[in-house]
Amino acid sequence: MTLRAIVKGVGHYLPERVVPNSEFESFLDTSDEWIKSRSGIERRHFAADDEMTSDLAEKAAKSALLDAGMDASELDAIIVATSTADLTFPSAATMVQAKLGMEKGFAFDVQAVCAGFVFALANANALILSGQAKTVMVIGAETFSRLMDWEDRGTCVLFGDGAGALIMSAQEGEGTNADRGILATDLNSDGRYKDILYVDGGVSTKSTGFLRMEGKEVFRHAVEKLAGTAHTALEKVGLCGEDVDWIVPHQANIRIIKGTAKKMNVPMDRVIVTVQDHGNTSAASIPLALSVGKMNGQIKQDDLIVTEAIGGGLAWGSVLLRW
Ligand code: ACO
Repeated sequence: MTLRAIVKGVGHYLPERVVPNSEFESFLDTSDEWIKSRSGIERRHFAADDEMTSDLAEKAAKSALLDAGMDASELDAIIVATSTADLTFPSAATMVQAKLGMEKGFAFDVQAVCAGFVFALANANALILSGQAKTVMVIGAETFSRLMDWEDRGTCVLFGDGAGALIMSAQEGEGTNADRGILATDLNSDGRYKDILYVDGGVSTKSTGFLRMEGKEVFRHAVEKLAGTAHTALEKVGLCGEDVDWIVPHQANIRIIKGTAKKMNVPMDRVIVTVQDHGNTSAASIPLALSVGKMNGQIKQDDLIVTEAIGGGLAWGSVLLRW
């Protein structure tokens, strides 16, 4: 028998305010047509002024608990993947812990920008397999609208706010790739690429800063690294692209999503796509897509799913799991 971290529940939350591409035309030299054709994005959600990342995370967490039929007291740990926590400290995760009324266990944030959820899920898997926790809430939550330079048309039209959550729990499996749960993970980073995607502020520089991106350069790395990491995870357990029921990719750009699927030999009708409705929600995009995919009846029990993401760092990785 082999211990596995299996999915017990999934949920998400999107702020009420929906911003269509046309709204940017009023203050920027841009168009709905440009944004749609270059990125696939049609609309995104922006958090209200008094709505913080931990508020979005709390709502996604409650929706996942409802889906799992569980109470917060049954959780051993909460991990929040975010680059946009409410405060410098404490972590968004401990804020969510308090909001859920959870008085035991532990909570911490993971920061790997757009790859954050994949890193958090791999960490939850390690906690479960090492016996340090039995049930872990893994949340991706972001308010990237707070990092936008509204005069930079190359970035501000691409991002949105939201949160998604997954509850992972220990269960015995047979030790084969037919088991439910996380089957393989692959994490990577290369700090030499800092300058192509970063925020030009932070506590130590005494400012909040704005997101800066050399989009073309990030694009150049994305397809190759994403297909590579997904392939590595599949290979670890003797599987390949043809075996995959769903790719659930980080939702940054439809052209990256299509390019990666093609490289993996997976047709687009086996890819969950939400970028048109959410924009790039960074660490929230994969759990949001998993939740929407399940809600729409696309993702079903025993489906083989590969999630893959790349973001600032550069940091990139994948998690292979059977739902
Ligand atoms: N509206 C109209 N024109 C625009 C806009 C806009 N919003 N933004 C840029 N342009 C212009 C540029 O100024 C440029 O004009 P020029 O040729 O006169 O100089 C032209 O459009 C082409 O710009 P490019 O940057 O070459 O456009 P490209 O086709 O590369 O698309 C995009 C840009 C969408 C940003 C793309 O490069 C991309 O998606 N990159 C990857 C982003 C990504 O994956 N990020 C993920 C990680 S995010 C994270 O980790 C936080």
